[in-house]
Amino acid sequence: MSLKLCFARSEDAARIAEIYMMAFDGNAMVHAQFPTNTALREFQQVIQARTLVDIADVNTTILVVRGTTATNERSNETNDTPETILESETIMGAAKWSHPVEVQDENFKAPHTWSDECSSAALQDWRRVTEKAENEVVGQVPHYELSFLVTHPMHERKGAGSLMLQWGIEQCEKTGRPAYLESTVEATSFYEKFGFQAKATLSFETLKTYKEIGFLYEPKGLSAASDAVR
Ligand SMILES: CC(C)(COP(=O)(O)OP(=O)(O)OC[C@H]1O[C@@H](n2cnc3c(N)ncnc32)[C@H](O)[C@@H]1OP(=O)(O)O)[C@@H](O)C(=O)NCCC(=O)NCCS
Repeated sequence: MSLKLCFARSEDAARIAEIYMMAFDGNAMVHAQFPTNTALREFQQVIQARTLVDIADVNTTILVVRGTTATNERSNETNDTPETILESETIMGAAKWSHPVEVQDENFKAPHTWSDECSSAALQDWRRVTEKAENEVVGQVPHYELSFLVTHPMHERKGAGSLMLQWGIEQCEKTGRPAYLESTVEATSFYEKFGFQAKATLSFETLKTYKEIGFLYEPKGLSAASDAVR
């Protein structure tokens, strides 16, 4: 399978939301916030709608990795007809990078009002914890932020996540801006491998066993511009 890093198109939004839900299927915090199937469906719809808005937003980049598989086919078994190469393409993973902004436009992306199926206590708890951690780690410094990074479970460990992370690292190196992200405990070694440093532990009051790690990437110097994204 060959991998291609691309900017997402509007028609990718539904698939991106599906992959997000599959990648976080086992995540305890998601289930604390969205405890029923109806709530999970609402969450998926919100991701899809927000992704559509983000694709059109110059301050956000939604990336996808497309995987292409080629299969050779002959129309008969005598080998006297030319081969047909069939190509099938699938989205393997997606990421959302928010760009550094000097002043946040509060009105542009108003927060969704969640229905009663969702746990407002858990949602508010996590929002409070994440805002505090981000403020402690990067404060008011304009920075890139990896809002999500997900690979379809069937396509993990094939390099898709690395391509999408490296895109953000290259932006940091080109602009001299840092990057911030919150990682699940399972993915910490992935980010450390790329030079991110653990700066904060996020504890979830609603679910005391759940933790995430706030990571910072500090640019090391100028790097060659990448033309890998099409
Ligand atoms: C974390 C995640 C995005 C990684 O994506 P991926 O496409 O599998 O990443 P890559 O194939 O580029 O992996 C590169 C390297 O990262 C490390 N790595 C990736 N996933 C890992 C995991 N689950 N545990 C430990 N190391 C991991 C490995 O060193 C791997 O290299 P290797 O396969 O040669 O050993 C993916 O596992 C995922 O979607 N997880 C669920 C959602 C999530 O936790 N997202 C990130 C935190 S918000």
